[in-house]
Order: sequence, then C-alpha cells, then structure tokens
Amino acid sequence: MTISEEEKRKVILTCAQPTGKLTLGNYLGAVRNWSTMLENHECYFGIVDLHAITTPTKPVTLRQNVFDCVAQYVACGLDPEKCHQFVQSHVVGHTELAWILTCLTPIGELQRMTQFKDKVSKLGFKAAEQEGEEIKFTHDGARAQASINAGLLCYPVLMAADILLYNADLVPVGEDQRQHMELCRDLAQRFNHQFSETFVVPDAYVGETGSRIMSLADPTRKMSKSDENERATLYILDEPGQIGKKIASAVTDSEAVIRASPEKPGVSNLLAIHSALSGQTIVQLEEHFAGKGYGVLKEELTEVITESLRPVREKYQELIQDKTYLSSVLAQGAEAAQKRAYKILSKVYRKIGLPDRNRG
Ligand code: TYM
Repeated sequence: MTISEEEKRKVILTCAQPTGKLTLGNYLGAVRNWSTMLENHECYFGIVDLHAITTPTKPVTLRQNVFDCVAQYVACGLDPEKCHQFVQSHVVGHTELAWILTCLTPIGELQRMTQFKDKVSKLGFKAAEQEGEEIKFTHDGARAQASINAGLLCYPVLMAADILLYNADLVPVGEDQRQHMELCRDLAQRFNHQFSETFVVPDAYVGETGSRIMSLADPTRKMSKSDENERATLYILDEPGQIGKKIASAVTDSEAVIRASPEKPGVSNLLAIHSALSGQTIVQLEEHFAGKGYGVLKEELTEVITESLRPVREKYQELIQDKTYLSSVLAQGAEAAQKRAYKILSKVYRKIGLPDRNRG
C-alpha cells in the first residue's frame, strides 16, 4: 500500500470499560464487529479505565480487569499486528480534552442522558420530575446521594474526548451508545463552529445484528454487566454448563410459538442471539423452529453459543497466563495512540489560545 492510500484509510476508534468479563452483548454488539474492520481501516481500541472509576472499583480488581479485557480483545480476534489496543489512562490527552469539552457542555444536556438517569435511579434515586430544562432528583437516602459523583454526569464528555482526540471517522458501538454519540457529534460541531474546523464529526456505526442484546431475566432491559441477577447476563468466558443453565432459565412467554415480535421480547431476544451467531436470518429461524417448543429452541441455542464461544474461551485461557505479552500489546498501542493524540491535542490548544509546549 502506498502512503497516500494509507492516509486515506478511515480511522476507527471505539472503547469498552474494563469490567472483567465481556458480556455476550459486548461481544455481539461491539467487539466481534470490530474484528471485521481491521484490514481496511486504521483501528484504535481503548480500554477506558478512567470511565470505570465513575463507579466504585477496588484498585486490585481494576488492574486485573484491564489485563482480562485485553486478553479477551485478542481472543475475540483483535490481532495486535493489525490494530492499536491501548489503556485510556496511558495516553495523555483524554482528560485534557474532556475538560475543554466540559467547558462547552451545558449541564442540562448531561442531565438528560438516558444512561445517566438509569445509573442514578439504579443507585437508589427516584427518578426525577422534569422541571423545565433541569431534572430534580429526590433522594432516598444519604448513602445513595453520596454515590452520585460528578464523574457519572460528565461521563459522556470524556467519551466524546476519547473519540475526538483521534479525529475518528467511524465509531462502532451498540445501540445503547447512540445518545452519547449524538452528544459527541454536537460537541465536535460546536467546537468547529466556535474555533474553526478542527474535529472530524464522527459517525456511529451500529451493526444490523446483535446491536441490542437483552437481559435473559428481563428482556425489556439490555443485557448488562452490572445486573445483580446472575442468570440475566451471559459472559463470553462462561463455561458450557453455565451457558446451559442461563439459557434454560431465560424468560419467554406462554404462547409457545417461536416467532419474533415486540410482544414477545424474550423469544425475540433468543432468536436475535441465535441469528447473530449462526448467521441465519430471523425468518429462516422462524421457519426452522415452526411447530417446535421453547425447549428445542433453548437446547439448540445453548449449542450454538457454546460452540461459537469455545475458541474465544480457549484462546483467552492461554493469553491470560502471559502478562508480559499483554503488557507489550498495550505498550505498542499506547505509543501509536499517543502519537496521534498529541497532534490533535496540540491543534486544539492552539485553536483555543492555550500556549503550546510543542510536544512533537
Ligand atoms: P460498555 O463498556 O458498556 O460497552 C462496550 C460496547 O458494548 C456494547 N454493548 C452492547 N451491545 C449490544 N447489546 C448489549 N446488551 C450491549 N451492552 C454493551 C456498547 O454499546 C459498547 O459499544 N461508554 C462506553 C465506553 C466508551 C466508548 C468511548 C465507546 C468510552 N469511550 C468511545 C466508544 C467510543 C461504554 O460504557 O461501553
């Protein structure tokens, strides 16, 4: 490839929080798609440890989770020879740019973010009466009140900084990140408008299948690693026995007909998972399962999940033993990320009038 072709390659950037094991939602909605983009793009994949500390995390767990995360990335097919995998806190610029963008963000925009409101209500607050632009939180107790830190509110601004710091063209994410992506685009446009053209306004890329995998216990909510119900969430490192148990107890309905429809969120979710892993369309699956019961669907789905994830689990078990290798992947990633980040950060500093230290 010539240099000019190299230069024309689109820049992909996306990130995930290091919260230990990746869920099936993270895999189908995110990481699996990323691995298909390596050949034709310049790819940066971040492990966002600074986002992770918006909720209380033990230091030893956080450190271990970063290694678990990179091992799972590589096991899912993110070949370090073809992309840059880095830890957010290793690269100077994320928090600096986040601060600059914070100064361009009205508080009301952050208070309106669905994920913020969800997190707040999960932390024990009764959600909020709307009052003009502002949302008021009536608290249930002092403990819950103490849990709402400003980081949780500013979380989407840091996310916007993660993306804009690399002038990424495309950001592959699951459906749940759409609103954060809109804020990121708004901030890029706002900055460009105020200080002249600086940032690429990035596009979200949401895959057609697997972009919204729902909880197995309550299929009206997304599958999430913070779910307290152990049966609600499948992890990509789950053993076959655990997968079987979780799928067997997945909530369905009493109609006993295997078809996807909004009134049947449980069955629709199981079909969506099957489709995302087996590559068969929902219509093909409905035909395949016509006249069969939910037991058959669950048994076949367990098999499909187990076999699809087996190579990932085996590769992970090998990689997690080799911390030296994993550290070298992250060091190489941070070096490449830092090089690009400094260029954009210097430009931003210049545009807004901060004295530049010429970081090279
Ligand atoms: P996180 O760590 O919650 O999730 C990582 C990725 O997994 C996707 N995802 C899902 N997709 C389908 N179904 C689900 N049930 C499901 N659950 C999670 C998410 O959409 C995401 O793509 N704020 C981000 C992390 C972040 C980021 C960024 C992402 C920080 N900076 C910059 C992109 C670009 C988050 O919490 O993802």
